[in-house]
Amino acid sequence: MRKKIVAGNWKMNNDLQASISLVNEIKSGLSSMELSSTEVMIAPTFVNLHAVTKLVEGTAITVAAQNMHFAEKGAYTGEISAKMLQSVGVNTVILGHSERRAYFHEDATMLAKKVEQALEHQMKVIFCLGEQLEDRKADQHFNVVEYQLKDALFQLNDADWQDIVLAYEPVWAIGTGETARPEQAQEMHAFIRNLIAEQYDEKLAEEVHILYGGSVKPTNAVEIFSQKDVDGGLIGGASLNATDFLAIVNAV
Ligand code: 13P
Repeated sequence: MRKKIVAGNWKMNNDLQASISLVNEIKSGLSSMELSSTEVMIAPTFVNLHAVTKLVEGTAITVAAQNMHFAEKGAYTGEISAKMLQSVGVNTVILGHSERRAYFHEDATMLAKKVEQALEHQMKVIFCLGEQLEDRKADQHFNVVEYQLKDALFQLNDADWQDIVLAYEPVWAIGTGETARPEQAQEMHAFIRNLIAEQYDEKLAEEVHILYGGSVKPTNAVEIFSQKDVDGGLIGGASLNATDFLAIVNAV
């Protein structure tokens, strides 16, 4: 039985003070909630990771980074390595977000290297996939997601998948207020699970967590999360407000 995961991707929002306030609000809200089968994650910006990991010590909140470099270390000005993240208590990383793909030209080859590096360090990866609006209009959404999955992840062995969580985020639904209809999310999640079953086996496919991301709000979370193959959400805008984020956690 897969547990549910609700992860807040704060993107390039919240300075140190705002991060501390938001974490404290989330912490106090979660303390009165029953979370036995739900994992709650937050992904602040790099500079606030250390402070946030300290604040969540002893709570059920996991802290994730929004990105990392594929190399162990070296002359990569401005970049952050897996080891650096681990040295501040971060063992989970979001990779392949559509904003990284679009604005920083991260392609499947680079993402495969990042995934490999994260797994070498026993880090957990939240790997994002999702089509653009043009792809969906041209009825290419399944093909696009299939290639994103195969090109970056199908070199992994069975054991590696223990540390992979997928997040289906249709680009047309990110930050637009337009959410995929629950049946569109379900259809894509089932498609992804089926591809994994074909490449690996049914058991492994059934164990992989697949989150949905794209304009999830307290008002639509219950409907989306009730879909059979949706194992929670990767939340952007609504994760910046503690009341909304907690309502979404409550909805899984
Ligand atoms: P929004 O929830 O703001 O649409 O962002 C989704 C997202 O990109 C999470 O990674």
